[in-house]
Amino acid sequence: MSDGAISRLQDADVSGKRVLVRVDFNVPMADGRVSDDTRLQAALPTIQHLTGKGAKVILLAHFGRPKGKVDPAQSLKPVVKPLADLLGEPVAFAADCVGKAADKAVADLKDGGVLLLENTRFHAGEEANDPAFAGQLAALGDIYVNDAFSAAHRAHASTEGVAHMLPAFAGLSLQREIDHVTAALENPQRPLLAIVGGAKVSTKIDLLMNLVTKVNQLFVGGAMANTFLAARGVDIGKSLHEPDLLSTAREIIAAAEKSGCQLILPVDVVVARELKAKAARRVAGLDEIARDEMILDCGPETIDALADTIADAKTLVWNGPLGAFEMAPFDTGTVEAARFAAEQVKVNGLVAVAGGGDTVAALNHAKVADDFTFVSTAGGAFLEWLEGKPLPGIEVLRQKAPEDTGVIADDAGEV
Ligand code: 3PG
Repeated sequence: MSDGAISRLQDADVSGKRVLVRVDFNVPMADGRVSDDTRLQAALPTIQHLTGKGAKVILLAHFGRPKGKVDPAQSLKPVVKPLADLLGEPVAFAADCVGKAADKAVADLKDGGVLLLENTRFHAGEEANDPAFAGQLAALGDIYVNDAFSAAHRAHASTEGVAHMLPAFAGLSLQREIDHVTAALENPQRPLLAIVGGAKVSTKIDLLMNLVTKVNQLFVGGAMANTFLAARGVDIGKSLHEPDLLSTAREIIAAAEKSGCQLILPVDVVVARELKAKAARRVAGLDEIARDEMILDCGPETIDALADTIADAKTLVWNGPLGAFEMAPFDTGTVEAARFAAEQVKVNGLVAVAGGGDTVAALNHAKVADDFTFVSTAGGAFLEWLEGKPLPGIEVLRQKAPEDTGVIADDAGEV
């Protein structure tokens, strides 16, 4: 991340202003209804802060990937009622995010009112970050607030382009995400431990390369650990792995050594001949895996050793499950490690931050998501943050040095 403090919503004078708020309402839906309202809940503090100050709140969001075309199946309309129920206030809806429908809905909005605009991705200009489209969005507001950390890795018109055109601030949920992830990765209490799991090394090369330069220990689990074990010459039978990434795994091991990061792999594993809940399974040492067996979870010795490492850590960053956690009993490693970490948060003051894709599902499955210090609602954005990449939607909110603002300081240096 580059320097420059983030402009915060609390510093904005919003009373009576039209405030465009970029939220992430890309929520799970089933049969046209919102089936998980976590992201709606995440937006409430910012919306309520603004309505409480008499601002006109205009919500911008995307849903799905309609690729610049109107697709009724990807409308944001189904979000209106659950959002209004959570707020306890009516929420107006405009059938387009720009043009006459949006203009009229904004003009009708009273101070303290809330309006949701239709899916920004119905316009090709959104993903293209087209300045003309961003300009149309900007014309609807006086102030811009980004409250969508989970979409901040996209340089789109509603996440980035429009922020150049209006006074721009970070919303409360975005600030919370930034503050927690920064505390965990950029300014952590040490030892700092990362647990990274999931199926593929190929999707996490940049992430692993960045983490080994920052953390004291890196535990690799899940099927991606199989690729590392194979790279170290372990015969892993018919375990899922990526044979063409063995040299990459070796490069990551070498980078860890160079940075003084202890890279920890499973020392024993649970194997079976098929991925079925009732398949015969056994615990195997690394030199005992038969040719027709596959690794489906960490073994008990590994989990004990990981628990010891977690107990010594002051900060933990977790991304990805440690085994085939969707199918009991191969969820044991993930569940036990997650529960142990959650307990350490309570009894030992461990700072435990988790996020990205399957991670939230895995922690919910272990029933400890609420016990972690912070669980990010973001998938791809959390991964890109762990990769050390600047997120365009956040970079644009950084306060510029005086010489960059175009405002000329007087003799006293004041503007
Ligand atoms: C998400 O759900 O992770 C964000 O809303 C980003 O969605 P996208 O991957 O379609 O850009």
